[in-house]
Amino acid sequence: MADTLTIKDNRTGKTYELPIEQGAIKAMDLRQIRTSPDDFGLMTYDPAFQNTAACKSRITFIDGDKGILEYRGYPIEQLAEHSTFLETAYLILFGELPTASALDAWTHEITLHTMLHENIKKLMEGFQYDAHPMGIFLSTVGALSTIYPDAKKIQEEDSRRLQIRRLIAKVPSIAAYAYRHSIGRPYVYPDNDLSFTGNFLNMLFKMTELKYTPNPILERALDILFILHADHEQNCSTSAMRGIGSSQADPYSALAGAAAALYGPLHGGANEAVLRMLKEIGSVQKVPEFIKKVKGGDGRLMGFGHRVYKSYDPRARIIKQTADLVFGVTGRNPLTDIALELERIALEDDYFVSRKLYPNVDFYSGLIYQAMGFPLDMFPVLFAIPRTAGWLAQWDEMLRDGDQKIARPRQVYIGAAKRDYVPREKR
Ligand code: CMC
Repeated sequence: MADTLTIKDNRTGKTYELPIEQGAIKAMDLRQIRTSPDDFGLMTYDPAFQNTAACKSRITFIDGDKGILEYRGYPIEQLAEHSTFLETAYLILFGELPTASALDAWTHEITLHTMLHENIKKLMEGFQYDAHPMGIFLSTVGALSTIYPDAKKIQEEDSRRLQIRRLIAKVPSIAAYAYRHSIGRPYVYPDNDLSFTGNFLNMLFKMTELKYTPNPILERALDILFILHADHEQNCSTSAMRGIGSSQADPYSALAGAAAALYGPLHGGANEAVLRMLKEIGSVQKVPEFIKKVKGGDGRLMGFGHRVYKSYDPRARIIKQTADLVFGVTGRNPLTDIALELERIALEDDYFVSRKLYPNVDFYSGLIYQAMGFPLDMFPVLFAIPRTAGWLAQWDEMLRDGDQKIARPRQVYIGAAKRDYVPREKR
């Protein structure tokens, strides 16, 4: 028997057979259900796209109930253990793990593009001394479109690839400059002898030494965090990237929009919000009181809950292990005990259990970033650097997808019916 859904319209008595493909019906198939010839046709109402697939994708697979995350079929646990961020970025973008020579070539290409145009440096100098680095980051990424007008050739594969290399290479430089700017230190030029994350640490933390040597444990820990954040299918910021990209805007403009979506505290700003929450709680003894407040509807337990994961976020598990590595070098973050106690109580409490609220990627990442010396407002920027690879892979996939058109959701209009303009003196 064919995979179909039979719908009976009780208003007209008509029945309709809708094909089910890959677990979905096509929303456009509902259009044939009309009550009169001038009826527009049936729509679905789905605020926040909770049950609407807006694309077919080959990049990232998530099973939220089982806590599974795979990039191009490779489990996140294996990538975190064996891969590097640049190798994972290649996998996400091009679909396969690179051969050794392809990885060398890719690493070389990225390294060639780490410098920023001096005018971009000047632009960044114009920000307020205490500007939030994420605000600097997203504005500067958008400004790159003025430096690279060739990026408008989005239909040309060579041009797309060039912009992808430029963006992946330049986002750490922009992030590091944003940080140095916020603490009044001079910008540090990239050191292309170092690894992707090693060079990033160099641009962030180099002082007067002639050559910066990253701590290998911290360098590897940051690389693991970058792997974990590289893509996460159709989340808020990725949907923004695809939505803006669907109007054929250049990738710098689209990525600025994606970064803006990431900035919010319910998305990539949650890691910053978690640390502020832990500080506000202040001590392990005050955890039950805080949980009571959250259960009473006063605020949320930041770093908990997820639209897709209804079990432990696999990234949070890996981050927890990585924290031990980092704390071995930096010393333990004193807020860790509060976080562990929050998790312990929440995982036993019926409020969180019944709503399937578990720690997500942001719950422990901030503790690591803080121990490594990052100020809280840099946390969302640290999320944006690796996610750039995912955003670009999703953008590229969207542009190649013959099913895609400019994004344009419908609405259910519930406003006033047609009425006549009332002159001002008669209102
Ligand atoms: N603390 C307390 N209650 C919560 C939380 C939380 N963190 N998250 C959800 N709930 C409750 C919510 O109040 C609702 O309860 P009720 O049914 O009684 O009204 C129920 O759980 C379902 O919540 P929802 O808001 O309908 O769920 P959602 O899928 O729309 O939201 C979320 C997902 C991530 C926005 C939300 O869980 C949240 O606000 N978490 C805190 C922020 C956070 O950590 N964000 C990072 C997400 S992971 C990184 C990323 O990819 O961005």
